[in-house]
Amino acid sequence: METSGKILIVDDEIGIHRGVQRALEPQGYSIETATTIEEGLQKIRQAKFDLVLLDVMLPDGRGIDLVAPAHADDPNLVIVIITGYATVELAVDAIKQGAYDFIAKPFSADMLLLTVRQGMEKRQLLLEAQRLQAIEQEAALLTIEKESAEKLSEFKSTFTLMIAHELRSPVSAAQSLLRTLIHGLAGTVSEKQGEILTRIDARMDELMALINDLLDLASSKTLADEPSLTSMSLQAALQASIDRFCIQAEHKNITISYHIPETPLEILATPDSLERILGNLISNAIKYTLEGGSVEVSMQLVADEVEICVADSGIGIPQAALKKLGEEFYRAENAKQSGITGTGLGLSIVKQNIDYLRGRMQIHSVEGQGTTFRVYFPLAKT
Ligand SMILES: Nc1ncnc2c1ncn2[C@@H]1O[C@H](COP(=O)(O)OP(=O)(O)O)[C@@H](O)[C@H]1O
Ligand SMILES: [Mg+2]
Repeated sequence: METSGKILIVDDEIGIHRGVQRALEPQGYSIETATTIEEGLQKIRQAKFDLVLLDVMLPDGRGIDLVAPAHADDPNLVIVIITGYATVELAVDAIKQGAYDFIAKPFSADMLLLTVRQGMEKRQLLLEAQRLQAIEQEAALLTIEKESAEKLSEFKSTFTLMIAHELRSPVSAAQSLLRTLIHGLAGTVSEKQGEILTRIDARMDELMALINDLLDLASSKTLADEPSLTSMSLQAALQASIDRFCIQAEHKNITISYHIPETPLEILATPDSLERILGNLISNAIKYTLEGGSVEVSMQLVADEVEICVADSGIGIPQAALKKLGEEFYRAENAKQSGITGTGLGLSIVKQNIDYLRGRMQIHSVEGQGTTFRVYFPLAKT
């Protein structure tokens, strides 16, 4: 049964124990008793009490001497001093020491009940205050942790940005030199050498792709907290991204079809962020679709959002991999096994930029059949 509260009475008069029990137990309080300071302290340390009724004078000392050690055990313990007229001064001292109230002997059952009820209210307030304080402390701790995590991630982005930036020029210089060799501009190259050089060139392409993705990701993460977006035509951005990958699609004999409405649709964006989103989705669609497959790009107004849909007839994404997409460097098993190279950074870049534009993305895929990415952006208010 739920009790109204746990009370310990520390008094050497057994008559008082009885009286208190008779008055309080019918009200749902659970009462324990002690007759000395030592026994009282022992009980306080063993079990949680809400309130202690404490006699001023006890066989082994003054009740007041129990206040401090009891509060050391539980600072929210409410202590009510029982005093006779001769010992009122001691009771006042006890209150100075942290006791909550006192009740003078002889007292009526009603008087006791009233005092105990008030004491219990005090106890509830103290406990509530303690709970709130704990919550506040936890919140403060979380804020500190969040701030240091943000700082670390900011540092990581800046660091990546710097490294990738530094790597770009030597790698691109090395690649131009390599191409001079491949094209025979520095003397004749044997067939075998040409083959090896071409393979090096392909690996340099991968390295360049990694550097570019790292740069894109790091700069997407360091975008301002408050987006500085302007109203932009989605038609133009989409058309530009499709044009950029047309040749790649042609090489793989992939047909790109698209349905772009005539009516202008504008969203709040930056040219870079739109290009990163659309470029990565379209290049993935082409990359993960086998020779002779197809890619469909469409755009339409759905309620007050613009939906951009990039669908392919490619290798698809295993169900289990769907929830991990967008994690940095994550690539699905079937993509890795297909021999198609990649960094696993493209979708992280896409996600960062979609968040920045206050959009959202849905992925639908059937392994072996194809994948559809749908991105929704709020329409710019004109
Ligand atoms: N259109 C798609 N079809 C199949 N798998 C895809 C497609 N787009 C993305 N994926 C999967 O998501 C992973 C992460 O994509 P992304 O971040 O662009 O990295 P990357 O293309 O460099 O591997 C890919 O490795 C692949 O497993
Ligand atoms: Mg990609």
